[in-house]
Amino acid sequence: MARELVQIREATRNDAAEIARVHEEAWRSTYQGIIPHLHLEKIIVHRGPAWWARALRRPGSGLMVLTFDGKPQGYVSFGAARIASSGKTGEIFELYLAPTFQGMGFGKKLFLAAKAAMEAKGRKSLVVWALAENEAACAFYGRLGGTRSATAPEHYGHVTLNRVAFVWERVGRTAR
Ligand SMILES: CC(C)(COP(=O)(O)OP(=O)(O)OC[C@H]1O[C@@H](n2cnc3c(N)ncnc32)[C@H](O)[C@@H]1OP(=O)(O)O)[C@@H](O)C(=O)NCCC(=O)NCCS
Repeated sequence: MARELVQIREATRNDAAEIARVHEEAWRSTYQGIIPHLHLEKIIVHRGPAWWARALRRPGSGLMVLTFDGKPQGYVSFGAARIASSGKTGEIFELYLAPTFQGMGFGKKLFLAAKAAMEAKGRKSLVVWALAENEAACAFYGRLGGTRSATAPEHYGHVTLNRVAFVWERVGRTAR
């Protein structure tokens, strides 16, 4: 039977190495020149296949992959918001595509899949944090209907960057 060229599905333990590859490629291309080099390399090494295998073993880990011709080229992780006034707020923790798969509508597909999974769990609003210096990501979340609602500093050694929170209230009614 022919399979869809582009699919979104829940990640499995077998995806750990490919998710680590996507993470590495996306982080290097996105954050070079933003996050200090040594910190960036440390994060990439830390988040290798073993880290992802552990993450995938955690029960209820919200992690989906976008596959192209069967191979993961993007992922989204999500769950209950880390900072929230109630348990009803969901958060997208990470949304990354391998560089050659960016700008073709796949990020939006992953975003909507994570949002739908959170709606199904009764999460009424959604937050995503992005570095302010990551202008492309900020434009993407703005385009999908997110409202800038807060900022917070993020420290990398002596360098302080700013994070911006994008919020979707009543997620069932936005970003379709
Ligand atoms: C950010 C990212 C997930 C977006 O995914 P993408 O597949 O490139 O974006 P899409 O093609 O799905 O774009 C969806 C919409 O956002 C718009 N958009 C995307 N990037 C944009 C940009 N830099 N500026 C303005 N609009 C942008 C698109 O035009 C599109 O609008 P439309 O629905 O009206 O056509 C992806 O580019 C990526 O992985 N980037 C590197 C990692 C990263 O920054 N992740 C986010 C960390 S918080």
